[in-house]
Amino acid sequence: MQRFSAIIAFLMTRLGVNIDHVATIRQARGGVEPEPVAAAILAETAWADGIVCHLREDRRHIQDRDLELLRKIITTHLNLEMAAVNEMVKIASKIHPNLVTLVPERREELTTEGGLEVVKQKSRLKKVIKTLHENDIEVSIFIDPDTEQIEAAGEIGADIIEIHTGMYANSLTRNKMENERKKIINATLFAKKIGLKVSAGHGLNYKNVQGIASIKEIEELNIGHSIISRAVFVGMEKAVAEMKRLINEA
Ligand code: PXP
Repeated sequence: MQRFSAIIAFLMTRLGVNIDHVATIRQARGGVEPEPVAAAILAETAWADGIVCHLREDRRHIQDRDLELLRKIITTHLNLEMAAVNEMVKIASKIHPNLVTLVPERREELTTEGGLEVVKQKSRLKKVIKTLHENDIEVSIFIDPDTEQIEAAGEIGADIIEIHTGMYANSLTRNKMENERKKIINATLFAKKIGLKVSAGHGLNYKNVQGIASIKEIEELNIGHSIISRAVFVGMEKAVAEMKRLINEA
């Protein structure tokens, strides 16, 4: 029975809960609450499969001490989103998250706006990936559903790609949304064919998640804003559990 449950768990799409916006609320007052580490513990209690946080260069939400505490406290899987810059590579090499997700970063953006441009910076990114691998850290690249970019990610040694679902999530019509979903399916199948694991995320919420969770080749969904927004009203554990249920039912 235990073995059977383990196989089912292995086949199900995993949920990584991004807790950045708990830190956003804390930073609004520059105080000590709400505590993002407490949010991570509650997310794990509700069966989140991993915790995601983005240490931005401007430290607008997650702080260095959050990352250090998360590494010590969480019991699932820590995914650190970061820019591919020396400062962040040094921090990751010291903290040892299970996974680093390389993302583009612009200071003035409200959130990560697009996938990383891989084709034009292959040699620089290859060095970053090599250093992270030497530190036993898996590397994912946040990427648009674009085969040229995905192929480049494979060539420079990425282990995983996380497909940017923002265009799908922000589609205003059903047709547009279906077209974006098809692009994500094609990108996923291409990535699997060249030996990459596939995750997806950005803009996913309780209404649109099943369109992506039903793509079985996608192994993990990383979701933040919608879960934290719901948690404000129903609590963190319930918000995570509801999202897990939708993903499992898709
Ligand atoms: N994946 C990546 C790489 C991201 O940068 C973000 C936003 O921090 C997310 C997933 C989560 O996006 P959202 O907060 O819209 O769920």
